[in-house]
Amino acid sequence: MRKVVVTGGAGYIGSHFAHFISGKGYEVVILDDLSLGHAKAAGDLPLAIGNVGDPRFLDSVFGGGDVDAVVHFAAYSKVAESMTEPAKYYQNNVCAGLELLKGMERHGVNKLVFSSTCALYGEPETLPITEENQKIPINPYGATKLCFERMAMDLAAVSTLRPVFLRYFNAAGADPEGRLGEDHDPETHLIPLILQTALGQRESVSIFGSDYPTDDGSCVRDYIHVTDLADAHLKALEYLDGGGAPDAFNMGAGKGSSVLQVVEAARRVTGLSISTQPAPRRPGDPSTLISSSEKAMRVLGWRPEYTDIDIIIETAWHWMKENPDGYDR
Ligand code: UFG
Repeated sequence: MRKVVVTGGAGYIGSHFAHFISGKGYEVVILDDLSLGHAKAAGDLPLAIGNVGDPRFLDSVFGGGDVDAVVHFAAYSKVAESMTEPAKYYQNNVCAGLELLKGMERHGVNKLVFSSTCALYGEPETLPITEENQKIPINPYGATKLCFERMAMDLAAVSTLRPVFLRYFNAAGADPEGRLGEDHDPETHLIPLILQTALGQRESVSIFGSDYPTDDGSCVRDYIHVTDLADAHLKALEYLDGGGAPDAFNMGAGKGSSVLQVVEAARRVTGLSISTQPAPRRPGDPSTLISSSEKAMRVLGWRPEYTDIDIIIETAWHWMKENPDGYDR
């Protein structure tokens, strides 16, 4: 059986992917230091607790010589936090990431799928965003992900490493079977915050900015379902198995929803009134991010299935109603 190491596999997107490929017959080992992830999200999958920046930990995981590929999710991913604590982001996303690349090289593992982000494009000059758009990140989070991509490409030029970068837009939703969901502490993401408000855990949702150059003045994002992302990572592994060269792919549903439209959709799905309050723009937020995922569809044969924002929210709502306090609390 093919063995795939999933770093950050106890986190939101990583856990969805780990269970998804385990269900397809892959042997999975999750690497997670549980600083943000949840042991319960790993479920019955093997979990090695440690940090990807620790060479000895990596040697113990790769030492058996039977790891076929690495899918690297472990990272910090909050745009606003990266603005106030940039060193933390460079340390974890770049320095620890470099240790992972060196560990893979030591043990002859050369297939890598990397959890990248549309945040590396910054404020786009054209929409929808293709992989060729200029890459000028406007926050340290995006800069660290771009840095990792460049680092991996430089190593790939002088070694057998073959990285594939999946640049996600806004990951959202939850496992449609209701086994896994999104649980961050503190929560900063729009859809969980809206649903926590629907549950009565918060009084209202702040709408960050009302004067963006968009139809309703709030930011527009391209929400992509976490199960569609899990499937994309599998397609990327299959691409590497077929001898695919290093490359980067955008991952979005290809349509934009404004913050106010997402709130409206959540009201429809939950049938509950959800209070909002205006708030200043959040530093580091671009106005509009919409993906062209044409390349991923053409080259990887990927097709996002859950592209309706109401359905994305419905899956998140299903999990949140069953797990109002998340995994551990
Ligand atoms: N927003 C609000 N109020 C909130 C929270 C968010 O108005 O209380 C707005 C934000 O300003 C933004 C949108 O809702 O316009 C989405 O915000 P999220 O925090 O949910 O997501 P981000 O767009 O900031 O970030 C996410 C991922 C990043 C990724 C980025 C790419 O967390 O890893 O998408 O857009 F890089």
